Amino acid sequence: MKTVIEKKNIILGVSGGIAAYKSVELLRLLVKQGANVRVIMTENAQWFVGPLTFEALSAQPVCTDLFEKNDVASIRHIQWAEAADAVVIAPATANIIGKLSSGIADDALSTFLLAVTCPVIVCPSMNTHMFESRAVQRNLETLRADGHFIVAPESGTLACGTTGPGRLPEPEDIVDRIAYYLSTKDLKDKKILVTSGPTREPVDPVRFISNPSSGKMGFAVARAAEYRGGAVTLITGPTHLPDPNNVKVIRIQTAREMARAVFENVEHSDIIIKTAAVSDYRPKDPATQKIKKEKGERVLYLERTQDILKEIGRRKKDQILVGFAAETENLEQHAETKRVEKNLDIIVGNIVGEPSSGFGADTNKVTLFYKDGTQEPLPVMGKDAVAHILLDRILKST
Ligand SMILES: Cc1cc2nc3c(=O)[nH]c(=O)nc-3n(C[C@H](O)[C@H](O)[C@H](O)COP(=O)(O)O)c2cc1C
Repeated sequence: MKTVIEKKNIILGVSGGIAAYKSVELLRLLVKQGANVRVIMTENAQWFVGPLTFEALSAQPVCTDLFEKNDVASIRHIQWAEAADAVVIAPATANIIGKLSSGIADDALSTFLLAVTCPVIVCPSMNTHMFESRAVQRNLETLRADGHFIVAPESGTLACGTTGPGRLPEPEDIVDRIAYYLSTKDLKDKKILVTSGPTREPVDPVRFISNPSSGKMGFAVARAAEYRGGAVTLITGPTHLPDPNNVKVIRIQTAREMARAVFENVEHSDIIIKTAAVSDYRPKDPATQKIKKEKGERVLYLERTQDILKEIGRRKKDQILVGFAAETENLEQHAETKRVEKNLDIIVGNIVGEPSSGFGADTNKVTLFYKDGTQEPLPVMGKDAVAHILLDRILKST
């Protein structure tokens, strides 16, 4: 299954801002995700980055001039406008924002922008005082009212030395927002609760019992659900992954904290997807001080943690409940037993311990087990792709 961006015709508009160097990386990431990208640069953008760089990375001619002396090139902006699935202007100068908001078409990029009918994603980047000026704010308001999408600039210390909003977001975040704006909003008005990551059960203040769950699967599900318009809450155990855009993230450590956060949020959720690898046991009496080395063996007593999934299954009303089963053997039997025992609508089973599947990997090889007893084995694919297929199947079952 493809990513949201794969095979999409994306036009990258580059105007003359200091952040133009970041649009090179943006182009690279879009091409890497399988997009067909064409670049249109303003004349001033060429002071910052050369067209040759974009030409080499996109493997397409770059448009820099409306009046190129060549038949094909001179109508290029209309042909590209008709084929485009999305346009992203990054960086967008105060100047191009002003021109687009008032319908000025005096160069290749501004003329092209009036000819497109697809979503236009504007990424303003400039000095903080310029960004906060009444003129720029007024123009951005006009662009929003005209149906264009604005990716808010980040705050920080800018190249010009001022501190405040105006910095172009990182290319990964711009790609993320392009995927969001390109996605069908088939989960609009749905509240989705996702859990992810491991839990940590303290043995003493400096040690814990845990597992190698990276949180990648749950974060992929949260991201995919947000792209599709859902109101997403993600409860996650410790992971190094950054918060997904526009998702309410609750970070917890232990199974007890996970249970508390889940039960606080579960009732008003329409769809609950539990990818977290919650510990089944915790040390019975964790030491309050660091346990010192001693001669001989040491016994650690464990007690059961609450079975959160089972409890949600018991309380479930008009909700869709999805669980994950990571197994080392007898996947079919274990997954099916868990699905019935916990009253799940779908269980996603995978065999862990293979490089392309399970903990920590970017890909996963899963089988979906449904309530009617049928199964759907999927080939190895990216966790984002697994997330989208799972959401497709959930929607089909509602
Ligand atoms: C070194 C330098 C850096 C600039 N950086 C920015 C910037 O980050 N954002 C911006 O809106 N304008 C910036 N400008 C001003 C624009 O280049 C100028 O307004 C130009 O007319 C924009 O033309 P364009 O929108 O057609 O590319 C910068 C100018 C210089 C000389």
